[in-house]
Amino acid sequence: MDLQKYLDEKRQLVEQSMADLVPMANDLHPDLVRHIESMRYSLFAGGKRVRPILCIASCEAVAGDARVVLPVAVALECIHTYSLIHDDLPAMDDDELRRGKPTNHILYGEAGAILAGDGLLTMAFELLSSNLLSTIPADKRLKIINIIATGVGSLGMVGGQALDIACEGKDIDITTLRQIHSRKTGALITASVQSGAVIGGADPKQLADLTTYGEKIGLAFQIVDDLLNVEGTTEQLGKAAGSDADRCKATYPAIFGIEKTKLMAEETIAEALAALDTFAERGAPLRELATYIISRNK
Ligand code: FPP
Ligand code: MG
Repeated sequence: MDLQKYLDEKRQLVEQSMADLVPMANDLHPDLVRHIESMRYSLFAGGKRVRPILCIASCEAVAGDARVVLPVAVALECIHTYSLIHDDLPAMDDDELRRGKPTNHILYGEAGAILAGDGLLTMAFELLSSNLLSTIPADKRLKIINIIATGVGSLGMVGGQALDIACEGKDIDITTLRQIHSRKTGALITASVQSGAVIGGADPKQLADLTTYGEKIGLAFQIVDDLLNVEGTTEQLGKAAGSDADRCKATYPAIFGIEKTKLMAEETIAEALAALDTFAERGAPLRELATYIISRNK
């Protein structure tokens, strides 16, 4: 299959839904208009839309209908965008460039950026609990809300970020490092795959296999992110290259070196692909996406 064509098509679908579901509001107090603008600034700054596309591909892998899952895909991108805005704050990674543009707090101030993140996180759960998903049985809707909330909460993405920040400058073991990566990045990616699968009608075995797939590609995604931080340029990444070393972050390349890290990323992707063994042709996009994650250059 032509992965580039697939990614372009799905990205367009997701971005159209984002524009529909997170519209500009002009008839409000000007400062409230600016708050909405600040959310939309980061949401439409040009992300790759990996998590929404994984959600759609996972839904289609179990013969589900992609159109039904679009509000969920948008909710996942809202959550991802919130995490980037907060991650860039001076109190966290303190970055001024993201997706090749000034970070949210550079334009809207720290309070504005905190609130843009809060607004996006809350918007996600507004979408997930709205009538937009009324054609999906209530038990499935409740299940994906729980999957996503758990994935991004204190034992998932937020917990991973807490560990990541607490471990800066410390010598940590590989178990802890793996945990940081799996939680801060892997958990939202896994929840994206799982929510698409649940809505698409996955049976328990399919859901278990797709969960393994999500966990493996989620871990690999962050390992590759570590590699890009060392080997990529700021221009190519749209965010500061070399920032992990500057902040004395524990990363895979810092602990294992570049070559061993590349091998570990490849092994992790091979494990992800093995979990797709029973998905015949319908699993093709997920297979290609796994390969894309390891070969991406931004
Ligand atoms: C890049 O995604 C982002 C990551 C690899 C995730 C890093 C983890 C965090 C920022 C967690 C932060 C959590 C909190 C609670 C602040 P990407 O390459 O898909 O970016 P894109 O959307 O710009 O393409
Ligand atoms: Mg960070």
